Amino acid sequence: MTPEQLAQVALDTAREAGALALSGFRRKMSVSEKGVHDLVTEFDFASERLIRERLAQATPLIPVVGEEEGGDRGSARVWYLDPIDGTTNFAHGHPIWCVSVGVMEGNVPVAGAVVAPAIGVEWVGAVGGSARRNGEPIRVSATDDLERALIATGFPRRREHEPENNFPAFARVKKVCQGVRRCGAAAMDLCWVADGSYDAYWERGLHPWDLAAGAAIVLAAGGTLTHLSGGPLDLTDGHTLASNGKLHPSLVELVRP
Ligand code: IPD
Repeated sequence: MTPEQLAQVALDTAREAGALALSGFRRKMSVSEKGVHDLVTEFDFASERLIRERLAQATPLIPVVGEEEGGDRGSARVWYLDPIDGTTNFAHGHPIWCVSVGVMEGNVPVAGAVVAPAIGVEWVGAVGGSARRNGEPIRVSATDDLERALIATGFPRRREHEPENNFPAFARVKKVCQGVRRCGAAAMDLCWVADGSYDAYWERGLHPWDLAAGAAIVLAAGGTLTHLSGGPLDLTDGHTLASNGKLHPSLVELVRP
């Protein structure tokens, strides 16, 4: 399948899973803690089951790795799915959460879709092809001045210690740009870079399922995506910087490990 065809599979699947999760949003649901500051709901499991079924039907030869059930990364192309990215928001009735379905070849994003049903927004992209938000073509912003930049970040669940907690980098960036946002869904933060709402986004310790779809959409929209050090994207530590490209060198200086 071409990246555009894979993007369409991701979009169809994420839409269906998004509708399923939306049916439970702001209703009584079972929520448990799978780790420190780490929630999971019955809808994370139901959404992941549905996505796995659909992907197995559409692309039986591409293995699937998901946040709740894991999977084997050992092959050329792999689907990475986050059945609900932003579970903490979802469990609290906050509308910033999404379903994220992306495919990568090794460390290289190929295609993906991110669907945020509680706010009625969906993004889809194929690297080397198109990037769209609710059907309209998108492109990263043109801002080249940090003082005018709106930037997003996130913080790891274990945040007792520096530098792992991202607090020093947050303070450095916050001092020099127009604003820093922390909305709680990494896949959407990446998509907001892709559609020009944010000029950049960084976070430490992302998982491949947080990243895969949004990363493909950023690249498809003309953005730049690297490790926080400025080197190639690295799924082993997930320290990631996405930007419109113009701000990338100055941000690397502020956020590098
Ligand atoms: C989390 C969210 C959050 C980010 C965390 C992720 P989850 O995903 O994307 O914004 O800060 O790093 O793990 O657990 O809600 O799917």
